[in-house]
Amino acid sequence: MIIQLILLIITITGIVDSSNIRFISGELDSIISLRCEIAQLPPNAVITWVYRPRAPTIDGIKWLPLYANARRLTQNNQRFIVDYSGYNLQTEKHLSILTINKLNVSDEGIYMCKSNQYQSSANNFNLTVIPLMKILPNDGIIELNHLQRSINLSCTIRELDQNIIDPLKIKWYHNKHEISHQRNSHLINKYSHNNQATLILYIHNLSTNDSGLFTCNYDNGLIIKDVQIVYTSAVLEYSRSMSSKLMSTWLLLVFIMIIIFIIR
Ligand SMILES: *[C@@H]1O[C@H](CO)[C@@H](O)[C@H](O)[C@H]1NC(C)=O
Ligand SMILES: *[C@@H]1O[C@H](CO)[C@@H](O)[C@H](O)[C@H]1NC(C)=O
Ligand SMILES: *[C@@H]1O[C@H](CO)[C@@H](O)[C@H](O)[C@H]1NC(C)=O
Ligand SMILES: *[C@@H]1O[C@H](CO)[C@@H](O)[C@H](O)[C@H]1NC(C)=O
Ligand SMILES: *[C@@H]1O[C@H](CO)[C@@H](O)[C@H](O)[C@H]1NC(C)=O
Repeated sequence: MIIQLILLIITITGIVDSSNIRFISGELDSIISLRCEIAQLPPNAVITWVYRPRAPTIDGIKWLPLYANARRLTQNNQRFIVDYSGYNLQTEKHLSILTINKLNVSDEGIYMCKSNQYQSSANNFNLTVIPLMKILPNDGIIELNHLQRSINLSCTIRELDQNIIDPLKIKWYHNKHEISHQRNSHLINKYSHNNQATLILYIHNLSTNDSGLFTCNYDNGLIIKDVQIVYTSAVLEYSRSMSSKLMSTWLLLVFIMIIIFIIR
């Protein structure tokens, strides 16, 4: 209790130096890690993490203590974890990593990592939580073969609690060109449910023309994720199927020869 009080006094009086703030953004429900390294500290120095929420707290407290070295100083936030490795002989620095699981709007604000040594400077992080974007079947790379006739790419956005989503702000692009609703082989369906919306791009009569980069863009680039559609090489597929056919023909021949051999 006394330690917490002292920490509070230290940190409340400490002014956040605006030149030394890193801006960090993380998607709702994701995991984020804030890495704090401080050089030239005596090995027994104490590193503390404190947090100032962007939304004012009811009791008027501005800075909330989170951790002192590996010791948790708060009861309420179980989603916060510190990985404190202390003094590293190689780097000659103290290292402490604060990880926040299942990021929530209430986590927005300033995170300060500071040592108890008077002369050392603080590491400040200004955390902003942004909406969540999820692409199905997946973002990254999707490999298609020539037998597949259609595919659905869906892009789901979940907005922060207080924001109502505008489905028109979700857009699909193909090789940087916005996909219009009229283009005949593309059909866009909209679902809207509270603060979540999904835009499905249904591509039928798939051809190699549909390969390339598909991008889901929300709110003029606030969040962007890509899907690269590639075709497995047609020649390769052909040679593979040919060689397997040849192989089975050979096996059959060998089999027949063995039977003939046994009969004789
Ligand atoms: C997430 O943030 C909202 C809005 O600030 C809050 O009402 C809710 O209790 C928070 N949830 C958790 C799990 O912290
Ligand atoms: C942190 O970021 C928010 C949003 O960008 C901004 O409004 C706020 O002034 C920043 N705070 C500090 C101390 O830089
Ligand atoms: C894509 O969605 C459409 C419409 O919901 C459906 O008819 C079709 O079977 C789906 N195709 C695939 C490959 O999932
Ligand atoms: C797409 O395939 C459907 C049948 O699945 C066919 O009726 C239609 O003409 C095709 N469209 C194009 C542009 O090839
Ligand atoms: C692919 O695009 C080219 C050029 O735009 C077009 O001539 C061709 O007909 C398209 N092929 C298919 C299968 O849609």
